[in-house]
Amino acid sequence: LEKGYSCWLQYNKITDSKLIEEYLPYCLSLSFTEDSPIVRSAVEELADGVKSMLDKEPTIYNYFSNDASIILGTYESINLSDYELSSDLFEKLNDESYVLKSVNKEGNNKILLVGKSDKGILYGAYHLLRLIQTRKSVNSLDLVESPRNQIRIINQWDNMDGSVERGYSGNSIFYDNNQFTNDLYRIKDYARLLASVGINAISINNVNVWEIETNLITSKFLPEVQKVADIFRSYGIQTLLSINYASPIEIGNLTTADPLDEGVQQWWAEKVKEIYSYIPDFGGFVVKADSEHRPGPFSYDRDHAEGANVLAKALQPYNGIVVWRCFVYNCLQDWRDRTTDRARAAYDNFKPLDGKFLDNVILQVKNGPMDFQVKEPVSPLFGAMEKTNQMMEFQVAQEYTGQQKDLCYLVPQWKEYFDFDTHAKGEGSTVKTIVDGSMYNYRYSGVAAVSNIGNDINWTGNTLAQANFYGYGRLIWDPELGAEEIAEEWVQSTFGNDPLVVETIKGMLLDSWNIYENYTAPLGVGWMINPSHHYGPNVDGYEYDVWGTYHFSDRDGVGVDRTVETGTGYTNQYFSPNAEIYNSLENCPDEFLLFYHHVPYTHQLKSGETVIQYIYNTHFKGVEQVKDLIDRWNKLDGKIDDYRFNNVAERLQLQLKNAVEWRDKINTYYFRKSGISDDQNRTIY
Ligand code: GCU
Repeated sequence: LEKGYSCWLQYNKITDSKLIEEYLPYCLSLSFTEDSPIVRSAVEELADGVKSMLDKEPTIYNYFSNDASIILGTYESINLSDYELSSDLFEKLNDESYVLKSVNKEGNNKILLVGKSDKGILYGAYHLLRLIQTRKSVNSLDLVESPRNQIRIINQWDNMDGSVERGYSGNSIFYDNNQFTNDLYRIKDYARLLASVGINAISINNVNVWEIETNLITSKFLPEVQKVADIFRSYGIQTLLSINYASPIEIGNLTTADPLDEGVQQWWAEKVKEIYSYIPDFGGFVVKADSEHRPGPFSYDRDHAEGANVLAKALQPYNGIVVWRCFVYNCLQDWRDRTTDRARAAYDNFKPLDGKFLDNVILQVKNGPMDFQVKEPVSPLFGAMEKTNQMMEFQVAQEYTGQQKDLCYLVPQWKEYFDFDTHAKGEGSTVKTIVDGSMYNYRYSGVAAVSNIGNDINWTGNTLAQANFYGYGRLIWDPELGAEEIAEEWVQSTFGNDPLVVETIKGMLLDSWNIYENYTAPLGVGWMINPSHHYGPNVDGYEYDVWGTYHFSDRDGVGVDRTVETGTGYTNQYFSPNAEIYNSLENCPDEFLLFYHHVPYTHQLKSGETVIQYIYNTHFKGVEQVKDLIDRWNKLDGKIDDYRFNNVAERLQLQLKNAVEWRDKINTYYFRKSGISDDQNRTIY
């Protein structure tokens, strides 16, 4: 049981004597020259990790000691010139940076871990532990590391009744029965996991803020929020809360929440002051407003900028931020109205407001224009708002990608979003240079994601879904890391270094996104899942509903016409040449064909296959690929502890059942719609 719980912080005992010989001299003792709760966390983690891996409890000096083998401190507290380092280097680095360097002093091997601040020390400590866990040499370390993204936040969608919206790993670790849980140890372990991959902020309640959670910003719960924030703080993580836009009415006894009302402005200012009296480094508010029936400024005829700025103004004196979500669309759509297109909504709502937000507002934009589908293009808002801070939102929780029953390693997908060239400022205007703030010099920028953890013993339901949690942190720390590199690190830290185990699991992870796509919605069209819970196939589940999630399949063809000439004009929201490429049936990449175009079933893809044959082929293939995943996993029987082996084996059986259902429902549906048979005469019901 213990094994799944520790995730990638296993710190398994090293048995190879050569490795022990290399690592041990570096790990005998540890001296720290700077003290703070964050430094204490770093020291505790290093000491525990070393003890567990090398069976040696390091001696700890809470002052500078020349005898120590690990010397740890901030750049201001260490005599840098003794180690051929200069403070110039650190002046250029951001606060979370660090240097890891192996040195030999008077015949003794040492490791120098110097942070720009205590946060840098903590990240450096986890880096060092990771190197040992993945059996890298530490003999000639000479590393300078800085996170590329400033805000690296995880959003919990936890409700206080203990449920987790779109949670697939048990219940909340934070709440139970409309109270905070008492298990602060688990929250500490969560903080360790988050910090180990560089996450520096967390919002601890669902973006849909219901009645009870509206009270999180009152004296009823703030003392509890404070306790949680204290834990996160000692791991370098700032705490934020999602708020209800109608709070002034619901808990403030006002008759309005109009952002331009003076009473409302005053109320927020006092509320924020109160929050900071409990949590001096409180991060700020996450806001889902005028979205899916949640209250917002629209009720008062105010726009989003007016809506966000009242909060921003209140938070400004404390350096707090407003994370304003752009998931705003008409969810009561009429399918006949072909001018309304959900994909257009975020851009249409927010682009005209560029420059109107205060500079401590940051817009949180979902990666794609719809909603975390297995395949959808990048949101055209990225690059379109030069004067407004932006941050990208991913979903680590696998709402639409198999719900942590099916295997779907999402790092390759996230990389595609990061690497996408928006052409906003000509060639090379990649999304990653927008969200890291460098392209437009945003004051605040970064990446957010919906968490996939719960109180299941292994945190993520499917043990292999831990790779998405790990990968999210690692990738947003350094978007240049490869999906394979991240997968390998994760497998080694989580399952050990047996080459068969490493290669097998890594291969399964890397193939999994494409496999999931093969047996689900084809060619970028998305949806086709069961309404409400969003697992399993239901081709027309949303087709006759009001959510704006159509595929428009009929007897002649399939896909959504989003072209300028005959469709919704969505393609025009991109910069040239992307706009023209997507708009053209000829040039549109096949992977997004049905997202942008409505085509006959006989339309030929670039491969020469027809659309209908592609649908059949990928759906038959997807099931075979899942069977192959099962065979690959079974080869690891006996090489992995029973708990984790069986956990994944069981999930793979569920995945197979799901894939078979998808294959059969999709194939039957399109066979009956099109009347065109499979050219290989396979069974279609
Ligand atoms: C999706 C999801 C909802 C969630 C919403 C959001 O629509 O299904 O559960 O509330 O996204 O991001 O706000």
